[in-house]
Amino acid sequence: MWLRTLRLENFRNYETLELSLERGFNFFVGPNGSGKTSILEAVSYLAVARSLRGASDGEVVKWGASGFGVGGEVVVGESSRNVVLRYSKPGGKDVGVDGEALAKLSDLVGVLRVAWFCPEDTWITKGGPGARRKLVDLTLCQIDARYLAALTNYKRALKQRNEALLSWSPDEESDRIVEVWTERLVKYGSTVVAGRLALIPRFSEAVSRYQSAVAGEDELTLEYRSSVALGDGDGTGGDPAHDERAVAEFFRRALERKGEDERRRGFTLVGPHRDDLDVKLNGRTLRAFGSQGQHRTAAIALKLGEAAVLDVDGQGVVVLLDDILSELDERRAGSLVELVGTHGQALMTSTRSMPGDAERGGENTMFRVEAGEVRRK
Ligand SMILES: Nc1ncnc2c1ncn2[C@@H]1O[C@H](COP(=O)(O)OP(=O)(O)OP(=O)(O)O)[C@@H](O)[C@H]1O
Ligand SMILES: [Mg+2]
Repeated sequence: MWLRTLRLENFRNYETLELSLERGFNFFVGPNGSGKTSILEAVSYLAVARSLRGASDGEVVKWGASGFGVGGEVVVGESSRNVVLRYSKPGGKDVGVDGEALAKLSDLVGVLRVAWFCPEDTWITKGGPGARRKLVDLTLCQIDARYLAALTNYKRALKQRNEALLSWSPDEESDRIVEVWTERLVKYGSTVVAGRLALIPRFSEAVSRYQSAVAGEDELTLEYRSSVALGDGDGTGGDPAHDERAVAEFFRRALERKGEDERRRGFTLVGPHRDDLDVKLNGRTLRAFGSQGQHRTAAIALKLGEAAVLDVDGQGVVVLLDDILSELDERRAGSLVELVGTHGQALMTSTRSMPGDAERGGENTMFRVEAGEVRRK
């Protein structure tokens, strides 16, 4: 899977841009603030209909304009599809594939799959669980439309349930309202937890494969830690129940146990929003003891593992590498570049020229980015 063309309109600092991309590596080199990350961000819109940089839709509209457009031709094997996403401040987002409007944004799932890697990702294993949940969620949302819908509905139910808990008073009506949201929380939350549990073994296997390629013998493994005690009492091992019905049962019981506590504190204490992905190096939680270099290497392995897991049909994914050379030493950057080469296409940005290894071979295309203008070299 690769992107043959990319078109932008009123996106960040681009009024209009038309790019022809190639398979293999596409390097974007230019000074700070010239518009390199914005190109990758636009690609993320074609894949997941939002910014993988975490920006809101309004923020990416070129200053002074009232909306933006991103378009591209996605090639898979012998066929290709044209994706167009438009956003206008009053009207919201619309996506079309081959000229036909999609009924829901989630119908875009699978048309283009991307793995994004930026300097902050070297914090994935160091920081709080939020970034690790996001990694898992973004992966699943790109391969499973049902997961995406469940996650969206879960977040909504969680918000409502928290509001109900916050305004709870000891009467029947209050309990009834909390119960309504509890039902939805359990329904969607168990799909989310079961989806994550099903992904982890595959993900862990891919990550440990890349870890040995990047770092030699150290073993990197992933374990899902659920706040919903899954069968073994504490959700930290054993044989967690994978199917949704069983998860729902455990989830409901965990909520019952915490019921009093939740009403006192005014928010939801268990559920996938409180879960974590435990990243272990040689059997120990990396977060607790990892060195700087170990965190960086683990982040690369995680991201490459993500790309492998996203490649559900063996057609490759588009790997977006934003400014990673600023965070990685030459050797790691070089091996990363080589490993990514096994995927369909990579778009990579940097303020300086690429490491020696990356310049080799015929499958590299260089672009010079300067103040919102991109020239192919
Ligand atoms: N909504 C917007 N409208 C117009 N310009 C914007 C908008 N948002 C950001 N910019 C500007 O667009 C430029 C490009 O930003 P971008 O993040 O793509 O740069 P970059 O080349 O990745 O820089 P760096 O090397 O520092 O990461 C910046 O100068 C930024 O200030
Ligand atoms: Mg940038």
